Amino acid sequence: MFRMQVNEEVSLKLLEMEDAKEIFALVDESREYLREWLPWVDHMKNEKDYEPVIEMWLKQFSSHDGYQAGILYNGKLAGMVGFHGIDWSNKKASIGYWLAKNFQGNGIMTTAVKGLIDQAFQEYELNRVEIQCGVENKKSRAIPERIGFKQDGIIRDAEYLYDHFHDTILYSLLAREWK
Ligand SMILES: CC(C)(COP(=O)(O)OP(=O)(O)OC[C@H]1O[C@@H](n2cnc3c(N)ncnc32)[C@H](O)[C@@H]1OP(=O)(O)O)[C@@H](O)C(=O)NCCC(=O)NCCS
Repeated sequence: MFRMQVNEEVSLKLLEMEDAKEIFALVDESREYLREWLPWVDHMKNEKDYEPVIEMWLKQFSSHDGYQAGILYNGKLAGMVGFHGIDWSNKKASIGYWLAKNFQGNGIMTTAVKGLIDQAFQEYELNRVEIQCGVENKKSRAIPERIGFKQDGIIRDAEYLYDHFHDTILYSLLAREWK
């Protein structure tokens, strides 16, 4: 099963059925803060709701189409990060992420995303990695900006969040720009 040690404190692991309880509890305790930017939070009402989703994540990984991984910070589940499918024809992928509220402010996500970028360019030999963030989502935008992504533009009404559309910024990083 997939595991990646990114640095001493941060590692990634594929979530399995036995993790449904822990992932539910983590999202549940940060529900109000996560739902501001993530459209799926209200749909996840109990532990059972994660079972078909975990099955889908495992299938995504086994079909070599990216993955969604749990982030462990000093061994504790802190959030998730992953590739939303891989466009092998055009050698590109986009990264998505979230952290539970209490794990913010430690550089965990910046570290995890750097790990995915290394993997995208070195192991998968992709040419382009994208990250899409809400225009108003300052903490999320700080991640690609801190890492050196460039802004490609604004996508108007890109996402529907419960009762409104919001604009996103598309960031990208190319293999030749990554040291
Ligand atoms: C977006 C999100 C993951 C950002 O979390 P975060 O903790 O700010 O990001 P990081 O883990 O990379 O940490 C960066 C912070 O840690 C600090 N930090 C400490 N050590 C650091 C290190 N070694 N490297 C980088 N930053 C470090 C940074 O200064 C920054 O703090 P600041 O915001 O006060 O300047 C989080 O806010 C979140 O999950 N939000 C809700 C869901 C969401 O919006 N998802 C994205 C949808 S597009």
